[in-house]
Amino acid sequence: MEWFVKAFLKASLAWLALGVTLGVAMAAYPLWTLHRSAHMHMVLLGFVTMMIYGVAYHVIPRFTGHPLHSRRAAGVHWWLSNVGLALMVLGFVTRAYGAGIGTVALATGGTLSALGAYVFVYLIWRTVDGPVHVPVVAIASR
Ligand code: HEM
Ligand code: HEM
Repeated sequence: MEWFVKAFLKASLAWLALGVTLGVAMAAYPLWTLHRSAHMHMVLLGFVTMMIYGVAYHVIPRFTGHPLHSRRAAGVHWWLSNVGLALMVLGFVTRAYGAGIGTVALATGGTLSALGAYVFVYLIWRTVDGPVHVPVVAIASR
């Protein structure tokens, strides 16, 4: 299994553990529901999306019979998604108390997370299409 597949699966599980812990805290202390957005993105962008990223990077090359378009970009994607989500959570939490810096963290984290998602879209798209084959006739005539 590629390192980034393992890393996405483990990150997904870690975000699930953190997200449900905040969920229980919100259930126990109703005032904490002001952190609903942080909880929601920890479980949806953290657990659900990262599980999909990890499973897709493992399974789609096998389903299609094509190698992953870029293994290096998949590693970069892991960092974008995880640093991005950590900043988003920090931003959601601090913004709930009206701190201006929260918006900066949220916007920066959101941009990194979105960039990660764009990398995923591009990589899976190119992997589904497969490598470009130059016809043998074309090579022979050069
Ligand atoms: C032990 C597990 C969990 C607990 C105790 C928990 C608890 C909570 C609580 C207390 C709220 C706030 C509700 C309110 O505003 O009154 C909430 C919101 C939410 N939770 Fe969880 N949660 C858990 C797991 C999950 C999971 C696994 C997901 C998704 C995969 C999820 C998705 C959401 C969403 C989307 C909201 C926002 C709902 C809205 O604003 O309408 N939660 N959760
Ligand atoms: C780059 C990625 C993302 C960014 C920057 C982002 C940002 C945001 C922001 C700023 C809000 C408003 C929160 C508030 O009012 O406190 C929001 C709401 C929400 N987001 Fe995201 N989000 C992202 C990805 C996702 C994903 C992947 C999911 C689900 C799989 C999701 C589900 C939701 C839901 C359910 C709401 C609440 C909508 C509502 O209550 O009206 N988000 N998001």
